[in-house]
Amino acid sequence: MKAIEIRKKYLEFFKEHGHRVIPSAPLIPENDPSVLFTTAGMQPLVPYLLGEKHPEGTRLTDYQKCLRTNDIEEVGDNRHLTYFEMLGNWSLGDYFKEESIQMSFDFLTKELQIPAEKLSVTVFAGDEDCPRDEVAANCWKKAGILDGHIYYYGKDDNWWIAGETGPCGSDTEIFYDTGKPACSDNCQPSCDCGKYVEIWNNVFMEYFKDENGKYTKLAQQNVDTGLGLERMAMLLQGKETPFDIELFKPVMDKLKELQKIDIIESRRIIAEHLRASIMVICDGGKPSNVDRGYVLRRLIRRTVRHMNKLQIDLNEIGTLVDLYVETLKEMYPDLEKNSNMIKETIIEEKNKFVKTLAHGEKEFQKAMNNAKNQGKNEIDGETLFKLYDTYGFPPEVTKELAEENAMKVDMEKFKELFKAHQEKSRQGSEQKFKGGLAGNSEIETKYHTATHLLNAALKVVLGPDTHQRGSNITTERMRFDFNCDHKMTDEEKKQAEDLVNQWIKEDLPVTVQEMTKEEALNSGAECMFIEKYPDIVKVYSIGEVSKELCGGPHVGHTGEIGTFKIKKEEASSAGIRRIKAVIL
Ligand code: ALA
Repeated sequence: MKAIEIRKKYLEFFKEHGHRVIPSAPLIPENDPSVLFTTAGMQPLVPYLLGEKHPEGTRLTDYQKCLRTNDIEEVGDNRHLTYFEMLGNWSLGDYFKEESIQMSFDFLTKELQIPAEKLSVTVFAGDEDCPRDEVAANCWKKAGILDGHIYYYGKDDNWWIAGETGPCGSDTEIFYDTGKPACSDNCQPSCDCGKYVEIWNNVFMEYFKDENGKYTKLAQQNVDTGLGLERMAMLLQGKETPFDIELFKPVMDKLKELQKIDIIESRRIIAEHLRASIMVICDGGKPSNVDRGYVLRRLIRRTVRHMNKLQIDLNEIGTLVDLYVETLKEMYPDLEKNSNMIKETIIEEKNKFVKTLAHGEKEFQKAMNNAKNQGKNEIDGETLFKLYDTYGFPPEVTKELAEENAMKVDMEKFKELFKAHQEKSRQGSEQKFKGGLAGNSEIETKYHTATHLLNAALKVVLGPDTHQRGSNITTERMRFDFNCDHKMTDEEKKQAEDLVNQWIKEDLPVTVQEMTKEEALNSGAECMFIEKYPDIVKVYSIGEVSKELCGGPHVGHTGEIGTFKIKKEEASSAGIRRIKAVIL
């Protein structure tokens, strides 16, 4: 069964079971600067898991575009992907374990026709925070999981939380038995040998973990599930790796045709990273040296490096993008609309990297001469790492070049430095995620409302065609991008600031109404990306001065905000200006 058919069946099945289909949120989270990318279907739903009412009700389902880059260096093996699609269904204080488990079992065995003997499940073994999940185990037995196919594990395996704090709970994971021989007498789902593949995770989200590591019960019992689409398609198609399914196959075949050197890992890296890059760019990503942009830059650069490794003409990168758009457009119609922009972005970044590589070679020569002058016949780990990190120069290339010059390289030291660096970036992304979930703090909520006020004030000062083009909130400041053809004068900045403060002083009420998208637009509500909202939307009004489609949360009255101060006004990109402001 093709991936798109699995997706269709999934959404249809949950629709029949009372769920509303909501659109995939963009890969780049909106209004959430603290998270790099969307990494799970639950991420855009956090406020609703915590109790806010969702306009579409208490049963939701979607397909969610996800990017996880923690294991980026693992890509190339037979299973790791950075970009993947997660099918999910949610109960927001509606059904709980029994119904969730029954639906999962029925979907797998009836809709996908997977024989029950191929399924095993794991449930939470219990500890001081949460009891052993006999309820889930009994639900599985009742649903039809075979005797001996239920395993109990601790928090490491059967507990799910995004990052460090936030909504969480015990989970039950469903595994598919590939039929490979058991690696030992003790081979079980937790084993990494490849016999069992995890296909679906049902999280029973009923706790909140705070900064002190303390768990408290949430106001409602939620279910959050995630099923990896590419993996499911691979198993149902009897393939060994996701790269053998129809989403990757055309590109993998093309790479084989173009390559002069045959390295399977490199083909996988190119196919995986190029797809991920295309998806990120389609959702508004741009390569840069920081945060999201840097992740995208790394993805594209690794693609180019491995094309070089296979001695594929780099001009073919455009052909590969075209082929991907063709292959994926049925699943992601936006790709076709944005195909030129995507291709241009990738080619431009490729060209930049080609120059960087040339630069790196010069640096290598310098490093080698230095070493020789010091009477050494080895390039040290620090230099290796610098060549890798600053010039994007893969250590294996440095090693090859060194060997051609009868030199060695200190690969051990490089690995050490690399590990430390990886650990740092992992902590960084966890921190980011943590920040994202904390995005509803009091101060961030104030900034959020201030953003609406600034948007409205700029319309008064600069004209009604001024619109938001992006925003970014941290606990310390807000950033707001908008279209404007000139640098704002001091007078204009002051007017905007004064207006926001005047509205704050007026202590205007902030109210919310739910309506259809069409009603919202007809009512003149402001909106950045209408297609990204579900059919029923929330419209936040601030007195008579602002009306915007938005997920919230907001303060109740503008008086709660404090004093608003513009700190900086600067160019963001062509025709787009950026204001940085704080609340005092
Ligand atoms: N949020 C859960 C996961 O990502 C379903 O596995």
